[in-house]
Amino acid sequence: MGKDVIVALDFDSKEKTLAFLDRFTEEKPFVKIGMELFYAEGPSIVREIRCRGHKIFLDLKLHDIPNTVKKAMAALSALDVDIVNLHAAGTAAMMTAALEGLTRPDGTRPLLIAVTQLTSTDQERMERELWIERPLAEVVMHYAENAAQAGLDGVVCSPLEAGAVHERCGENFLTVTPGVRFADGDVGDQKRVTTPAKAKELGSDYIVVGRPITQAEDPAAAYRRCREEFIG
Ligand code: C5P
Repeated sequence: MGKDVIVALDFDSKEKTLAFLDRFTEEKPFVKIGMELFYAEGPSIVREIRCRGHKIFLDLKLHDIPNTVKKAMAALSALDVDIVNLHAAGTAAMMTAALEGLTRPDGTRPLLIAVTQLTSTDQERMERELWIERPLAEVVMHYAENAAQAGLDGVVCSPLEAGAVHERCGENFLTVTPGVRFADGDVGDQKRVTTPAKAKELGSDYIVVGRPITQAEDPAAAYRRCREEFIG
């Protein structure tokens, strides 16, 4: 898979989601289904969107004992999605088990990427609540390396971290990066944002874009603009 824009389907119902997708008459964007939509509608929403011809990043961030994650990943793999994810904090044993569970009888599997530290966790909370007393940027890089060593395909990170992740974990280790805004757009609750063009320059492999596309007056036009800036 090459560089692409992934549209975050942050909706709470099937109706809203399909009405949004119906607005794309010419293209079939790569989409991200997160916990909100998946827990509201269940696996059938994944099957329905797949049937419509979209590639899917299923963003469920698994974190449990290795055996449970392995079995859950097998169930997700059967949904024929393209990317799934987990928390690197679950350790290498959990990540390896996840890869085993994801691998289908014919040897194929969805890409597996890791969340390092959530962007909602800051240095102060990490030290005070998690008792991790290292600079946050080092922790992120260490977790990325753990994921690479366990055989995962990449991480979710900020475009600002993409270069460092590639340097440490290899050019082929994927960086899937949210926190993207148009230069003239609303930042919303995102703290550190980059434009699609800047994300390209910084080496992101996939950008995950939600509100700049979902809330746009013309989502298909916003999506095309995003692709144009990111892929060219
Ligand atoms: O609307 P917006 O473009 O901010 O949406 C970004 C998407 O990426 C949301 O689905 C959000 O949950 C997700 N995400 C994020 N930051 C992370 C991890 C995931 O914004 N660190």
